[in-house]
Amino acid sequence: MRVVLLGTAAGGGVPQWNCVCDRCVDVRQGRLPARTQEAVAISGNSQDWWLLNASPDIRAQLLGTPALQPGPGPRDTPVRGVLLTDAELDHVLGLTILRGAGLIGYATPPVLAALESALPLRGLLDRYQPWTWREGFDGIELTGGLRVTGLPVGAKAPKYVASPEPDDRWVSALRIEDPATGGSMAYSPCLAQWPDGLDDLLSGTDCALLDGTFFDATELGAAVGQQDSGQSRMGHLPVSGPGGTLAALARHPDLRKIYTHLNNTNPLLDPLSDARARVERAGVEVLTDGAEFAV
Ligand code: MLT
Ligand code: MN
Ligand code: ZN
Repeated sequence: MRVVLLGTAAGGGVPQWNCVCDRCVDVRQGRLPARTQEAVAISGNSQDWWLLNASPDIRAQLLGTPALQPGPGPRDTPVRGVLLTDAELDHVLGLTILRGAGLIGYATPPVLAALESALPLRGLLDRYQPWTWREGFDGIELTGGLRVTGLPVGAKAPKYVASPEPDDRWVSALRIEDPATGGSMAYSPCLAQWPDGLDDLLSGTDCALLDGTFFDATELGAAVGQQDSGQSRMGHLPVSGPGGTLAALARHPDLRKIYTHLNNTNPLLDPLSDARARVERAGVEVLTDGAEFAV
């Protein structure tokens, strides 16, 4: 399976349009590379490509990725569809850019319902060119030979949903396997807590692309000049600390581990930071937009 990291930033990207935190300033002044909002492209055969999430930056991400160029017919595209891990704006707004293509969309029931009512993108897309929507991730076989299963990892609903139904399927982790190579990847860019089942999923996987939004539980509050109320406000487990993802990932020494969905406040954005050195010593990578690897 080929994997391309189309974008590696959390909502807002790096730099964020209205932010003057240290990292955003570093990017504006050319000291750090910019990052677009998180999404991935995968393929089992280099011809049929599937998007994992559709970020608001999808247009630039598609244009900048050689494998995703259109053709040979006048409206042909190698993009077959989108798998949505959640309904957050930074993961679904790119669907509007894909209008007119009539692709396949996979998501869980609460995510499909949010895209029907609170943010009615499904009906909107259908009026350009009907999409095919499929519920859940279990037993999916994607064209190109990839197999997918899903794991519910959280009940965090997007803020734009006024009265969300409690449902642990608001957020999913995916396991994608390429039977041709035997390789597999776990994808979990939004982890508000470490759920039951995630260790098992990671144990049977070669590579994991995981939520690295915040390095520590106070950085968001510090950047906006407020006492942070902690993880519940962030909606993401921090990397560091006793309950952080780095401690959990230490249970998986043989797994290739990559952090993504990095917030613009995150010191991991700076390759020379102590935070980055610590994470790399622990065997976890931070890659740039456009990074490609095989699983
Ligand atoms: C998140 O990942 O927590 C959301 O994308 C937050 C947001 O909407 O910016
Ligand atoms: Mn997000
Ligand atoms: Zn910033």
